[in-house]
Amino acid sequence: MCGIVGYIGKAEAPNILIKGLRRLEYRGYDSAGMAVLDGGRVEVAKAAGKVAALTEKAREEWPEERFSKASVGIAHTRWATHGPPTEVNAHPHLDQSGQIALVHNGIIENYRALRARLEAKGHQFLSETDTEVLAHLIGECDKGDIFQAVCDALHKVEGTFGIAVLSAREPDRIITARRGSPIVVGVGDGETIIASDASAIIAHTQRVIYLDDNDIAIVKSDSVEIRDLNNVPVNREIAELGLDAEAAEKGGYDHFMLKEIHEQPEALANAIRGRLDFNLGSSVLAGMSTSPRELSELTRVVMVGCGTSLHAGLVGEYAFEELAGVNAEVEQAAEFRYRNPILGCKDFVIAISQSGETADTLAAVREAHQKGAFVMSLCNVVGSTIARETGRGVYLHAGPEISVASTKAFTSQVAVLLMMALKLGRGRRLSREYGLEVAQAIASIPELVAKVIEQSDHIAELAKNYVKDEHAYFIGRGPMYPVALEGALKLKEISYIHAEGYHAAELKHGPIALLTEGTPIIAVACDVPGKDKTLGNIEECRARGARILGIVTEGDDAAAECMDEFIQVPATHHLVATVPAVVALQLFAYHVARLRDCEIDQPRNLAKSVTVE
Ligand code: G6P
Repeated sequence: MCGIVGYIGKAEAPNILIKGLRRLEYRGYDSAGMAVLDGGRVEVAKAAGKVAALTEKAREEWPEERFSKASVGIAHTRWATHGPPTEVNAHPHLDQSGQIALVHNGIIENYRALRARLEAKGHQFLSETDTEVLAHLIGECDKGDIFQAVCDALHKVEGTFGIAVLSAREPDRIITARRGSPIVVGVGDGETIIASDASAIIAHTQRVIYLDDNDIAIVKSDSVEIRDLNNVPVNREIAELGLDAEAAEKGGYDHFMLKEIHEQPEALANAIRGRLDFNLGSSVLAGMSTSPRELSELTRVVMVGCGTSLHAGLVGEYAFEELAGVNAEVEQAAEFRYRNPILGCKDFVIAISQSGETADTLAAVREAHQKGAFVMSLCNVVGSTIARETGRGVYLHAGPEISVASTKAFTSQVAVLLMMALKLGRGRRLSREYGLEVAQAIASIPELVAKVIEQSDHIAELAKNYVKDEHAYFIGRGPMYPVALEGALKLKEISYIHAEGYHAAELKHGPIALLTEGTPIIAVACDVPGKDKTLGNIEECRARGARILGIVTEGDDAAAECMDEFIQVPATHHLVATVPAVVALQLFAYHVARLRDCEIDQPRNLAKSVTVE
């Protein structure tokens, strides 16, 4: 989604802003822009398309010395919501005087009413955006103190915002504020960087301040002063990012997605390390360190999430039911938040979110808190809003995930959910022996995944047979059903092949009508309970001419024989088997997309972190 970078410091703001925007490219966007202060004026450059187009534009239009001398500026990558991704709709937007520039993430919901009021006062708007309305509103409120003007304007808006504001009249500061859209301030040595995502900050400093909702900050090169919207000072700690700049680079791989697939053995080892207890046959999760008694009183697990995180929850559902013997449900977060869910203090709500910023998941967390549920988060991004608001949770420690298509976050989510279910289970009916068996299987996940990754070349060969397909159907049963859903999601989002995931039993209730000679069916038929039924469904597909690519367990020759071609994954406990199986499908999707020359890391229309509803 949209990205913000702001810089105030020693010099070369344009170059620093462009580098920051590049770091945010992975979030998904369709236009970009920046504004710097030069010679007492706000100077703006914008372009539709990529940051590279913006760079070219600024190089053409701006004098060279602006690049070396301008020392304060704000920049933005826009993911279109109000109006198409054109240059004029790109941020920054200026106020009526042209002296104030604004970049904005989020949505100003009452922008139409505000725009009409401002137009009646003679304001003229150039774009279709809600952001330009806010820029004009700030200008209208400005009586010589840009901080106060932003406060006053924000009191008048409804909706969500993460913003950075620059005024030519007060060149020593950037004003930044947030409500529902993240802002992180990096505190450097004689320079301060603002960003919507820490990955734009890591090259400068590890010391950051996370703004909370309704915080507004006066950011100078050597100070950060935070207040609330009523101008009352608030205290926010400086935190250590603990992120490595190299982790956010491609490191020799053609795509971030491929790098992140290959990082999975290590990411999973990080997610699992020190969290299994082989004496008790349980897990040790600091974020779940509530008393066993309190945990045993929870009667229901409700997982909420979106996209890939939702699929991880669906695997978790099997784990909680089987290992913990507790009712478990998974809800799409947007559905959950608006459905007025029935919740109480015995419900254990787990918010699953890689980024920790997804708007619907965050709203679901607030709803669950409101209703008195026991709420925990499962996030990857340390210090993210969901992680902070839940107050208790388990981090994935998977390292930064840059590719829009989530891979290592998914497998780490599943691994952590398995450990959570194990812990909950051991406080109930799960025996030490079975707990131990599951713990050992979880411990072997990195090795199982490494074995699948070794087959990347073989999977790339198989992928050639699917490059020309326009439709594909993924099927599975039990815990392999969410794996099929995730496999279909991976393929469709990066290769643009229409892919659907179905429960294998559901095929007969409609989708089978779509099968004709050669239709590809990707069947997750690992040797786990329900496999024989899946094999039966495969036969039904074959009888109608479908072409079957099977994901089968090593050594299961009978299953392999049912397939036209297959990928083998190592044998393991049936819940754990979901992880190597999905890795095979990640590689399959990657290789098909690569052969189709797709923009793998930034697929069209998609965003890494969806901070609007
Ligand atoms: C976007 C991303 C997906 C992700 C989903 C939920 O749609 O493209 O990869 O699964 O958001 O994101 P979250 O950060 O909450 O896991």
